[in-house]
Amino acid sequence: MDKKKILIVGGNGFVGSNLARDLARDHRVTCTWRTSVDRIPGVEYHQFALFHDKEKCTAIAQSIEPDVVIYAAGSNDPVKCEKDPILTQHTHLTGANHMLIASDYVKAKYIYLSSDWVFSGMEGNFSESDTAIPSYGLGKNKLSAENYIRSRSLNHVIIRCAPLLGRGNIDHPSWLDQLRDSEISGQHRGYPQHSFHNPVHIGELSKLIHRIIENDVRNKTLHLGGLTKISLYDLATRFLAGFDYHAKPAKLDSGKRCGDSGFFAELFADLAATQD
Ligand SMILES: NC(=O)c1ccc[n+]([C@@H]2O[C@H](COP(=O)([O-])OP(=O)(O)OC[C@H]3O[C@@H](n4cnc5c(N)ncnc54)[C@H](OP(=O)(O)O)[C@@H]3O)[C@@H](O)[C@H]2O)c1
Repeated sequence: MDKKKILIVGGNGFVGSNLARDLARDHRVTCTWRTSVDRIPGVEYHQFALFHDKEKCTAIAQSIEPDVVIYAAGSNDPVKCEKDPILTQHTHLTGANHMLIASDYVKAKYIYLSSDWVFSGMEGNFSESDTAIPSYGLGKNKLSAENYIRSRSLNHVIIRCAPLLGRGNIDHPSWLDQLRDSEISGQHRGYPQHSFHNPVHIGELSKLIHRIIENDVRNKTLHLGGLTKISLYDLATRFLAGFDYHAKPAKLDSGKRCGDSGFFAELFADLAATQD
């Protein structure tokens, strides 16, 4: 396979750093970081956080001249996003749009990491033909960015990822790292019981991106998920049992189902209380 130049925006995050490690085996990878960096050998790093500045986004793309830009910035935590709607819009939408324009300038393929939070969460096992009906800020901003990308780019791939399983780094632990740490410290974080997902290992995302690059896949919206439909509460419970932690995570949304009126207000109030 041809060695490509890949720019990962948000490359020090949980997803970005895992992708950088895997993709650097076959390609030349450069990552952007904002507040701190945990360097991976063989990967180049640039500090960059000026997503609001279209010209600066274009300038960084012009200085690196990537063949592929992967946009992996922003948190996938719906509670954090709900608490700071301006930062959420800035990171998941405005920054994503500016980096798309920058990618067009240098004729790079643009891979946007979207999320299964664009769906209501009532069913699980989502497919490409399902209607996206987000109920909260993270999903709404993801969907707006997707629409912008589809309407303006001729060389993009949008990947709607289910929750990704794997290990993060010191600055950006994965949500499973955070679950384990919170149980060790006796915090018992809460997880929703009635919102369904199809978690998948982060290695599957790397494999998919390898295939997209190798086969020059274009202008597709792909879903990445595992075979098991499960609530985050049940997954957290099994994870803790599997690693012999004799504790159960807290339950959230015990009364209402996802999609019921008031579900998200109640869920976010509970989640905010457990995560503060
Ligand atoms: N984790 C999952 O299970 C999952 C599932 C589906 C989709 N995704 C998507 O994958 C992407 C990355 O998720 P993640 O779990 O890796 O999040 P993460 O660990 O929190 O990492 C986010 C990265 O984005 C950077 N970032 C955030 N805001 C920024 C800003 N305003 N300017 C510049 N950099 C900024 C962070 O840099 P600093 O730390 O330096 O601020 C960090 O490197 C998100 O778009 C998420 O929706 C993740």
